[in-house]
Amino acid sequence: MASIPVDRSPDSTLALLREGYRFISDRCDRYGTDIFQTRLLLQPTICLRGRAAAALFYDAERFRRAGGLPKRAQRTLTGVGAVQSLDGPAHRDRKAMLMSIMTPSAVRQLGRLFDDEWRARLPVWEQAGVVVLHDEVARMLMRAVCAWAGVPLATADVARRTADMNALIDSAAAVGPRHWRGRLARRRAQRWAADVVRRARSGALPAPEGSALRVIAGHRDERGAPLPRRIAAVELLNVLRPTVAVARFVVFAALALHDHPRWRERVREDGEAVACFVQEVRRYYPFFPAAAARVRRSFDWQGYHFPKGRRVLLDLYGTDHHAALWPEPERFRPERFAGRPGDAYALVPQGGGDHLTGHRCPGEQLTIELLTRAVANLTTATSYEVPPQDLALDLSRMPTLPPSGFLMANVRRTA
Ligand code: HEM
Repeated sequence: MASIPVDRSPDSTLALLREGYRFISDRCDRYGTDIFQTRLLLQPTICLRGRAAAALFYDAERFRRAGGLPKRAQRTLTGVGAVQSLDGPAHRDRKAMLMSIMTPSAVRQLGRLFDDEWRARLPVWEQAGVVVLHDEVARMLMRAVCAWAGVPLATADVARRTADMNALIDSAAAVGPRHWRGRLARRRAQRWAADVVRRARSGALPAPEGSALRVIAGHRDERGAPLPRRIAAVELLNVLRPTVAVARFVVFAALALHDHPRWRERVREDGEAVACFVQEVRRYYPFFPAAAARVRRSFDWQGYHFPKGRRVLLDLYGTDHHAALWPEPERFRPERFAGRPGDAYALVPQGGGDHLTGHRCPGEQLTIELLTRAVANLTTATSYEVPPQDLALDLSRMPTLPPSGFLMANVRRTA
C-alpha cells in the first residue's frame, strides 16, 4: 500500500487562508501527485484534484456529506440542516424537491425576469456617471429571483436583503469581522425566510404553482412530514443566495470581455461562441474553491488507503485548472469548448457527477442561463467605458472579486 504524501505542518489552516485557491494545487505540484494529506482545522484531511479524483469523490457509496462541511460554513453560507449536509434517501428527496423547481421553462422565465431588470435599470445607469457592476447585478438578481420564487420583496428592502445574501457568500472562508457579518446575516435572513414560509403555509401569502416558495413550503419529506419551518427557510435561501452569487460570474464575464475584446465581437455574432465563452468563464475564474466530504467506510483507491471518517477535500478550482485536462489552463480560451462534449468530472466549478442523485449544483442551468443573458446584455444592449480601477484578482481571498466590483462609466443603451 502506497502512503499518501503528507504535508508536514502541525496544522495548515492558516496556510490555506493565506494561500487561498492555490493551496491544494501548489502542494500537488510540489509532491508531483494529485493527492496529499494535511491537517486542517486540527483534523487530518486528504486533498484531491483531477478527473479521477472527482469521479471518486462523487461516489456516494464511498463518501458521506454529514460532517464534511465545517460548522462555520454551515452557520453562514449554507445554513444548518441544508441539502448540502444530507446523505442517502433524505438527500435524494430534498434534492428532487429542488430540481423540480428548475424546469427548463422556469429557468428561461428567471432569465427573462433578469433581462427585464437589466432593461429597467439602464436609464438609471445612463444618469449615474459610474456604476459598480457587481452591486447593481446582485440587486437585480435579488429582485428577479424573489419575483420568480414567489417571495415578496419591497423596493425599500432590496438593498439590505441583497447585502445579507452577499454577506453569506463572503463569510464562509473568512475569520474575524467578515465571518461575524455572515453569522448575523444568516440570523436575519433565516428570520425573514421563515416568516415568508409561515405566511405561505397559512395561505396569507399565495405562492404561484411551481414557484420555489410553493414547492418548498408545501414539500413533504421521504417520511411524509412537512419540512420544519427553519429547514424550509434554509432551502428557500439555498435558492435566493446562490442566484445573487451569479453576480460574481457576471463580473468575471465583464472582466473577460475587457481583457479579451475580440470576444466581444465573437459572442455578438454567434450563439455557439456565447456558450463556449460562458463555459470558459465558469472554468477559468475562481469561485468555489473546494467541496468537502467524509469517508463513509474504509476503502483503497489507486493504492492509497482512505480510513473511515477521514475528511476529504476535492479541489474544484485546481481540477478546472489541471494541465492534464485543460491545455494551457491559465489562458482564457473559450474555443477550447468548441465541439467538446460535457464531462461531468472535468469541468467542476459547480461540482461534478449527477445533479439528481449526487451533490452537483442544482442551479447550474440557471447559472448558465443568467450568465448567457448577462453576456448578451453587456455586448449588445449596453455600451460602456471601463475607467481606470483595480481589477486584479487576489487568489488568496476566498471568494475573490476585483476590488472595484467592476466600474462602468458612460453607460448607454444600444439596442
Ligand atoms: C453562482 C454560481 C454558482 C456556483 C459557483 C455554485 C457552486 C456550487 C458548488 C461548488 C456546489 C457544491 C457541490 C458539491 O458539494 O459537491 C453547489 C451546490 C449547490 N448549489 Fe450551487 N452554485 C452556483 C449557483 C447556484 C444556483 C443559481 C443555485 C440555486 C438557485 C444553487 C444551489 C445550490 C444548492 C442547493 C446546492 C447543494 C446541492 C446538494 O448538496 O445536493 N447554486 N453549488
